[in-house]
Amino acid sequence: ADAAAGASVFSANCAACHMGGRNVIVANKTLSKSDLAKYLKGFDEDAVASVAYQVTNGKNAMPAFNGRLSPKQIEDVAAYVVDQAEKGW
Ligand code: HEM
Repeated sequence: ADAAAGASVFSANCAACHMGGRNVIVANKTLSKSDLAKYLKGFDEDAVASVAYQVTNGKNAMPAFNGRLSPKQIEDVAAYVVDQAEKGW
């Protein structure tokens, strides 16, 4: 996956709700490593796959991106999110 390409996917598709790794709709479900570990199923086993799954399928108020982003764009943005979570955004 290409996290650098994922950064521009994030700006265009995610930042409206997740600027700086935050969550404007459900404030406690941020993209920090600790929140991802707490709320995202499978994060501890395969972090990138767990983020890609949520982006593909959506969850509650988060829209599904299946068909709006390509599988490669989804892999790239998931790699970017995990990198940023590791770095503390
Ligand atoms: C949750 C990523 C776009 C709204 C999450 C989570 C991830 C994520 C990894 C889990 C966070 C956690 O549980 O702590 C992304 C990515 C996006 C994107 C990579 C772009 C491709 C959006 C957009 C919105 C949104 C555009 C608003 C319209 C939400 C909400 C949750 C969430 C409401 C909480 C869902 C729940 O568990 O109830 N997002 N997101 N996301 N996201 Fe996104």
